[in-house]
Amino acid sequence: MSLLKVNELTMRFGGVVAVDQLSFSVEKGEVLTLIGPNGAGKSSIFNLISRLYNANHGSIYFNDTEITQLPAHHIAGLGIARTFQNTELFEHATVLQNILTGCHVLRSTTALQHLFFTKKVRHEALEHRQRSEEIIDFFDLQSFRHSVIAGLPYGVRKVVEIARAVACRPALLLLDEPTAGLSAEESSDVAFWIDDLQKDAGMTILMVEHNMDLVLRVSDRIIALEDGALLASGSPQEVLEHPDVIAAYLGTGTGEQMDVTL
Ligand SMILES: Nc1ncnc2c1ncn2[C@@H]1O[C@H](COP(=O)(O)OP(=O)(O)O)[C@@H](O)[C@H]1O
Ligand SMILES: [Mg+2]
Repeated sequence: MSLLKVNELTMRFGGVVAVDQLSFSVEKGEVLTLIGPNGAGKSSIFNLISRLYNANHGSIYFNDTEITQLPAHHIAGLGIARTFQNTELFEHATVLQNILTGCHVLRSTTALQHLFFTKKVRHEALEHRQRSEEIIDFFDLQSFRHSVIAGLPYGVRKVVEIARAVACRPALLLLDEPTAGLSAEESSDVAFWIDDLQKDAGMTILMVEHNMDLVLRVSDRIIALEDGALLASGSPQEVLEHPDVIAAYLGTGTGEQMDVTL
């Protein structure tokens, strides 16, 4: 059984077809990367899966449960977490507070129990605090624990966003361009974390990424998209050597390059 299954998904904005009859699956435990020129529909696919966009056609299944029509706030509770291409954090809260919000979906206590601050609530708050500290250690964010997001460098904010997504122990992690704007050293850290999240934490990862060094390093499979439709899919080597993929990248004129040696 696939962890995620997307069937004939279509998303239109006026005359623009952002996602065009697209079908693919994400298998448990793999790192699957979506590549494609700007405007290929990659972020739209993430927005459809996380239910920020409503599909015009098609269906999405997670763990064999249909989620095509589910409200967005149910998604995290099912075990899907995501980051955004442009980071979306609570700007005036600290790193720790942001990561704690990521733990919030793990909450098993009721509003009434919170009102009376029961033992269970206190226990859960402690657990979330411990989980957040583990995450802070894992992502090397100790020195930023109490820093307010708005004052932090871009590279740190990107990492905090991944940390917050991981805090709820998702079964499926969606990473939208996790290394965009990061230095080579920061990108290399991200590659290590993705590896650890897959191999040690058992997470399944669906990623959008342009940095082909990172893509080759961490991906089990790649899907290449153009104009919302599937161009090629398979092993990294199969996809990156595919003539249609090479043509799509060379034809973009956006300055994106596939600077890779296989
Ligand atoms: N909210 C939106 N409103 C209008 N058009 C959109 C919206 N989101 C995406 N699009 C359009 O859909 C196409 C795919 O965009 P996107 O999914 O962001 O591509 P990618 O992430 O691959 O760069 C683009 O033509 C984009 O302009
Ligand atoms: Mg995008």
